[in-house]
Formats: sequence, C-alpha cells, structure tokens
Amino acid sequence: MKAIVYRKNGPPDVLTCEEIEKPVPSDQEVLIKVHAAAVNPLDVHMLKGGPFIFRLLFGRAKLKRPGVDCAGVVATVGPAVKKFKAGDAVFGNCRGAFAEYALAPESKLAPKPENVAFEDAAACPVAALTALQGLRKHGRIQAGQNVLINGASGGVGTFAVQLAKIFGAHVTAVCSARNADLVRSLGADRVIEYAQEDFATGAARYDLILDLAGNHPFSVCQGVLTPHGIHVGAGVLAGQKSLFAMFGGLIGTLLRSRFSSQKFVVFMAKVNREDLTFVAELVANGKLKPVIDKKYTLVEAPEAMRYQGTWHARGKLVIGLDA
Ligand SMILES: NC(=O)c1ccc[n+]([C@@H]2O[C@H](COP(=O)([O-])OP(=O)(O)OC[C@H]3O[C@@H](n4cnc5c(N)ncnc54)[C@H](OP(=O)(O)O)[C@@H]3O)[C@@H](O)[C@H]2O)c1
Repeated sequence: MKAIVYRKNGPPDVLTCEEIEKPVPSDQEVLIKVHAAAVNPLDVHMLKGGPFIFRLLFGRAKLKRPGVDCAGVVATVGPAVKKFKAGDAVFGNCRGAFAEYALAPESKLAPKPENVAFEDAAACPVAALTALQGLRKHGRIQAGQNVLINGASGGVGTFAVQLAKIFGAHVTAVCSARNADLVRSLGADRVIEYAQEDFATGAARYDLILDLAGNHPFSVCQGVLTPHGIHVGAGVLAGQKSLFAMFGGLIGTLLRSRFSSQKFVVFMAKVNREDLTFVAELVANGKLKPVIDKKYTLVEAPEAMRYQGTWHARGKLVIGLDA
C-alpha cells in the first residue's frame, strides 16, 4: 500500500510517499481503507521530534507514519472486535492516517453517518473533540454564558465557536482580521481582531475562556473572567515560549487557580466513541459544519504539513485518497 513515512525527525521535507506492507490488525484493532485523513498540529510536533517531551512520549523516528484522524471503510477486523465489520463506514483516531490503510483501536472509532462526506468526517476527531471536551467537560459551559474562544479560526476554534453556540452561549471569537467574517458566519456574536484589540484588557467579562493560542496567562485572564469563571488552556502557539518556561508557568498557574474562585484547567483531548457519535449526529443534522481550508492528495501531504506548521490554517486541512 502507499503511505507517507519518515525515518528521521525534521521539517515536512523528510516525508516520503512509499510502498509498504499493509498492516494487520491485532485483537481489538480495525484495519481501515482510508478515504480521507486530516492534519493536526500534533502531527507537525511529532514530525519535528522536539521538544523533549514529545521525544519522551513518542520516541525518536525509525520508520514512522504520520496522521491520527481518518475516515474510511473497514477492511478487516481483529478477532476481538465486536462493534464493526468489513464494509462499515467509520471515522476516528488511528495510527498512520496518511496512507491507503490505517489501524485503529475499536474504542476510538464511530460509525460515519451516510450523509456525512468522508472528508468532513475525517476533519472531526481531534479538533471537534478538543473543542467539545474543552467547552463541555472542562469548561462546564452553560446556556446564556459569555464565552470567549481565543484562536477561533483554526481547526479547533471553528468547531468551538459552533459548539459554544449550540450550547446556547454568547460567543466572542478572537482571530485575525482576515478571518473575522468566517467566524461570524459560524455564529460568533462578537469578533475581536487580535491585532487591533487585546481581549484581556477589554471591559467584557467571560464565564469561560477556551484558549487555543495560549498567549495570555491565567493571571492576565483573571482580570476578564467572572468571579467563578474558568480559563481552559488547550494549546500554545508554536515557538511562543521555551518548554521550561511553559512548564514552570503551568505549575505556578495551577497553584494560583487552586486558591482562587476562578479556575484554570489544562487538558489533552481523549478520542472516544461517545463524543465522536455526538459530533457525528450534529454534522449529520447540519448543525455543525467542519470548515475545510484546503484539500490535498496523498503525495501532497508534506505541503499540508507545511501549511499546518504556519499556525494560520483556516479550519482543517484534509488529505483525500482515491476511494
Ligand atoms: N489539548 C489538546 O488535546 C489539543 C488538541 C488539539 C489541538 N491542540 C492545540 O490547540 C491549538 C490550536 O489547534 P488547532 O488545530 O486549532 O491549530 P490551527 O488550526 O493551526 O489554528 C491555530 C489558530 O491560531 C490562530 N492564531 C494565530 N495567532 C494568534 C493570536 N495571536 N491570537 C489568537 N489566535 C491566533 C490562527 O488564526 P489566524 O490565522 O486568524 O491568526 C489559527 O487559526 C494548537 O496549539 C494545538 O497544538 C490541543
């Protein structure tokens, strides 16, 4: 099968498209014939191999296959798989999504609704679930709340704006001027162009800040949080801070939050069937629309990774494979 691979960490130039063995599913794994895959900042971090924490978590590159988000059709299943069979259309989290076939644990997949395109389904797993879990689980979003999304026009942000509206919040979206109309079209009630105005010095107060840019520390955001407001940190702009400064700052922030009625939460999204199904139903009903900035072919994956690494994608970047 054709797959995008790399043997050493580095920029997207180290990626090649090669013919490799089709993988075989273990007990609880599903082999998916990939129809579409999506790119995430995580793929760029893993490819680079640094910072140290990523090398520690994911190891140094030997023969590695990028991509964790995919949608496709089940080719074969491991002997213990119960929920899926060959021929089922699925989407979710897998290993090596930028390939003709990819393996996924059964627990990280959900059925793809018939009326949802493979490309739209592939755009959802990491980004939509980060937005969902950041708002609902960690941010405890309630109808009528004043919610700010910092980094509203990227992969996660475009889902977060729509989901916050679905949950009945009043949404302020922070993005660049070129994306103001996009986030408004997704339902944002108010847009702050970050080059013109700093949300952290404004008069508005927020019950929940979902921070995908990480360029305003909790201590600064406290000034614009309501007395019991929550600041959910999900992302940091690349190159913004050294890892040492980031973790040092994080410990101080968590301590500060512990002794305040205002809370800071940092989290890693967990892909699971229940949340995938929740998102799939919203997409199928037309209530949630994946925003796809650009579509690429498999051999164009390095270009997609290069664009993802600019931190200025408008929504998701999707790699389509011939069905
Ligand atoms: N915790 C988790 O589990 C988890 C999961 C997924 C992603 N993440 C992290 O969350 C972050 C966002 O992910 P993503 O997939 O949405 O990334 P993305 O698609 O690259 O989007 C990044 C967005 O940041 C915006 N941005 C750039 N500079 C900004 C600034 N100064 N102020 C506000 N916004 C700014 C850009 O908007 P403009 O082009 O309009 O400037 C862009 O749309 C990344 O750091 C990623 O690593 C975390």
